[in-house]
Amino acid sequence: MSHPPILTVSGAKHAFVTRQVLRGVDLSVSAGEIYALLGPNGAGKTTLLRAICGRLRLKEGEVRLAGQDPWSVPAARAGLGLVPQDLALYPHMTVRENLQTFARLSLVKGPEIEATITRAMALTRTADRAHVPVKHLSGGYQRRVNIAAAILHEPKVLILDEPTVGVDVDAREAVDNVIRGLRDIGVAVLLTTHDLEQADGLADRVGFMREGRMMLEGSPRDLITHAFGEDMEILVHLVQEPDTGGEIRLAAEGLNKSSGNLWVKLDPGGYAAAGKLDTRLRKLGLTPREIRVRQPSLQNLFTLIADRKVAI
Ligand SMILES: Nc1ncnc2c1ncn2[C@@H]1O[C@H](COP(=O)(O)OP(=O)(O)OP(=O)(O)O)[C@@H](O)[C@H]1O
Ligand SMILES: [Mg+2]
Repeated sequence: MSHPPILTVSGAKHAFVTRQVLRGVDLSVSAGEIYALLGPNGAGKTTLLRAICGRLRLKEGEVRLAGQDPWSVPAARAGLGLVPQDLALYPHMTVRENLQTFARLSLVKGPEIEATITRAMALTRTADRAHVPVKHLSGGYQRRVNIAAAILHEPKVLILDEPTVGVDVDAREAVDNVIRGLRDIGVAVLLTTHDLEQADGLADRVGFMREGRMMLEGSPRDLITHAFGEDMEILVHLVQEPDTGGEIRLAAEGLNKSSGNLWVKLDPGGYAAAGKLDTRLRKLGLTPREIRVRQPSLQNLFTLIADRKVAI
């Protein structure tokens, strides 16, 4: 990353009563970068975000936002926008009325309010619904208005806790495009997600947390290349679910059951290997309906980690 980090966390430790939730986390995000925090439930992601926002005082370690501590210097928090997981909007008010209300709360000066709202609606692509009450908007639109409300004061760092949970793929893509647009104007974006496909396509860097520690960090492509080298993922969709004998033969081919009649393997041979596999499976009476070959994904990597097949 060419920019120095605008947000840094070093040695973050926290405990709720006796429960250790953060065990020494380091993290940095630069202007114009999207960083996705990943990890299972309870890993400590939200706790870390709360500490970054100055809403929770770390037991040890420090947070620096453009050089200042958001806990002890409340003014530093003006450089930060938080998009909470739950919608924080007035459902009966229109998009514009919501943003007017939040602009006043964010202490945007009176004469600047209209221009500020126009900018936020343009960046979140919500202007075409300006006069619609929020309760009548689709979930995806509501999420984008939630982002609009968080960027009215033009924060340099934007924090989003699970910004697309519960929305469909198209709505997620629209939210992702808004996040990319903010990155492209130089905002440092830190988000959490359980959606590995989203992280794969959106994040410049990901960090995988588990039990309060940062276990693995890097760009999705670097992590995948490091873990899988030249391997490609071969997905075999069978015409029908195999019986026990079939399952044994599929396993002998190195295929792992994904679900029902979907079986997968990693193979450096790629398309050529898939062709040969197709021929062998047909001879065995295990007819594929479809065989796909694709690059391994973060999902593959985290499956390996979960199965403890790669050490982290
Ligand atoms: N205010 C609190 N008091 C006590 N325990 C808490 C509090 N907040 C969080 N915890 C605990 O801290 C741990 C980490 O929680 P956290 O919400 O940070 O995880 P997370 O990674 O965000 O998980 P998820 O993916 O489910 O959102 C969990 O065991 C949780 O129960
Ligand atoms: Mg959380």
